[in-house]
Amino acid sequence: MTQTITVIRGDGIGPEIMDATLHVLDSMNLGLSYEFADAGIVALEKHGELLPAATMESIRRTRIALKSPLTTPVGEGFSSINVELRKRFDLYANVRPAKSFPNTKSRFASGVDLVTVRENTEGAYIGEGQSVSEDGETAMLTQKVTRRGSERIVRYAFELARRTGRKKVTVVHKANILKSTSGLFLKTARLVAQEYPDIECNEMIVDNCCMQLVMRPEQFDVIVTTNLFGDIISDLCAGLVGGLGLAPGANIGSDAAIFEAVHGTAPDIAGQGKANPCALLLAAAQMLDHLGKCEEAERLRRAIVQTLEEKDSLTPDLGGTGNTMSFAQAIARRV
Ligand code: NAI
Repeated sequence: MTQTITVIRGDGIGPEIMDATLHVLDSMNLGLSYEFADAGIVALEKHGELLPAATMESIRRTRIALKSPLTTPVGEGFSSINVELRKRFDLYANVRPAKSFPNTKSRFASGVDLVTVRENTEGAYIGEGQSVSEDGETAMLTQKVTRRGSERIVRYAFELARRTGRKKVTVVHKANILKSTSGLFLKTARLVAQEYPDIECNEMIVDNCCMQLVMRPEQFDVIVTTNLFGDIISDLCAGLVGGLGLAPGANIGSDAAIFEAVHGTAPDIAGQGKANPCALLLAAAQMLDHLGKCEEAERLRRAIVQTLEEKDSLTPDLGGTGNTMSFAQAIARRV
């Protein structure tokens, strides 16, 4: 049976890594068909809006999107379309695996295999109630955390641990200082943890967690945390295992899921064929898992690892002399 997915080619290096990813997926004969949709700057130029209704309808229909990065202006201009998509589809779980890969510029060539589960719809990150006083001297924002939001993300983390044979969930918080918001998250997490006696649960304050991740990342299995902490921690984890070019992420809700690379549009290398397509390919593997095509997902991951081991056509960020498409072709040959 054909499975239709919405494909958003994105900005900057987006189209290059998407072409490379679709080349590999096509070589696997997965029975996927693509519905191309626009979002971000491309959509603004073509349709006069950043998130056209047709794109929303496509995701609503297919319930699955593979998305390249989209530009968000820093400090001014329009708000993030990524955040908007997460809000509109209530994609509450942001799932970011970090695993050691061979032949990467990593401090940890082995031993790291963890997943960050980040709450994706609440907290300071969504920028609710942002304002700056007229004299420009004071800035404000609201940080809202709910019991419902905390409960469903912590439950998601424990269910993920159970489903994937992981043994431990670490709840990361700052409840010593942020007693209301982080406090509610932690209290709720403790209650949910009681329902999963088969999974070990520990707690860690976010600053200590960052140090522990750098010193002894092998102690972590699943990390569950609030939105802003998860944003930072998951990039830290990407750094442990060789950088953003290898870090995938899934945004999962009850009615839709969007799979993407953790990195952004990389304007400094856009259009040069230098971008590493692995992060989006690994996100595609997460998508295949989500679609129940777990064997195919593993095949794809193995082909990526083998290509890295054999240093075939690697992109410059991995010390190679290949380009985005030649790297993808090398992966497709092994898949
Ligand atoms: P970035 O992730 O685009 O780039 C950071 C550094 O990593 C750059 O040196 C870049 O060349 C390198 N890099 C990133 N991806 C790479 C890849 N696949 N292969 C090789 N090198 C890679 O972060 P930056 O510069 O902070 O953000 C640029 C734009 O991307 C901004 O507009 C930002 O808002 C947006 N962004 C979008 C995201 C999304 O759509 N999910 C996520 C993060 C940022």
